[in-house]
Amino acid sequence: MTRKRVGVLISGRGSNLQALLDAAQAPDCPFEIVLVLSNKAKVQGLERAAAAGVATAVIDHRTFPDRETFEMAMTEALEAAGAELVCQAGFMRVVTSWFVTRWHDRLLNIHPSLLPAFPGLDTHERALAAGVKLHGCSVHLVRETVDQGPILGQAAVPVLPGDDAETLAARVLEAEHRLYPACLALYAAGRIDVRGETARLKTAPAPGGLLINPPSPAADA
Ligand code: GAR
Repeated sequence: MTRKRVGVLISGRGSNLQALLDAAQAPDCPFEIVLVLSNKAKVQGLERAAAAGVATAVIDHRTFPDRETFEMAMTEALEAAGAELVCQAGFMRVVTSWFVTRWHDRLLNIHPSLLPAFPGLDTHERALAAGVKLHGCSVHLVRETVDQGPILGQAAVPVLPGDDAETLAARVLEAEHRLYPACLALYAAGRIDVRGETARLKTAPAPGGLLINPPSPAADA
């Protein structure tokens, strides 16, 4: 089996990166992480990559005159590492149409909401303010519009009475750590068809697979 070569873009903690690194340890995993690229130095995600023996690079966006030259430098590093797919994992820079086109259908993102609800920042605060009863996360292909693009998979979690942004974020993050490796594995294995703006699984997912539903919260939860 040839494993798809994946570059991961991060800006910080890197807990989603860790989930991808852990998944890549399995002998039958259809992807391998070949480069972790951060726009910030000294972040925890870089330590996680180094501990897993994965190459790292820091490309500081502030040292470039504009977004495109920053993205050209990232692209050069990704190509030098032989990356075929690129995963944004807590990468907190908006990318330009140049980068999106350059990596068309090869650039994935994880977003902490059930898209198309709550694109942008502060998703947990906004979900609580809207009073939704289900919240969650989405893995999607990146398009020009921020947090929009073919959805590869979603995981839902309940919003519980008494939740604040922190408890809700923690519940969503746990789901992110299951969802991202699962989506990347299916995509890397060629098991998802992308037609225009819609992504569809070619075959039914394994039980416990991509559609992650929360159990009903207990009545007194
Ligand atoms: C995750 O919750 C991810 O979904 C979110 O940032 C967090 C990064 O955590 N991404 C975005 O908000 C992108 N707009 P991590 O660094 O521990 O993976």
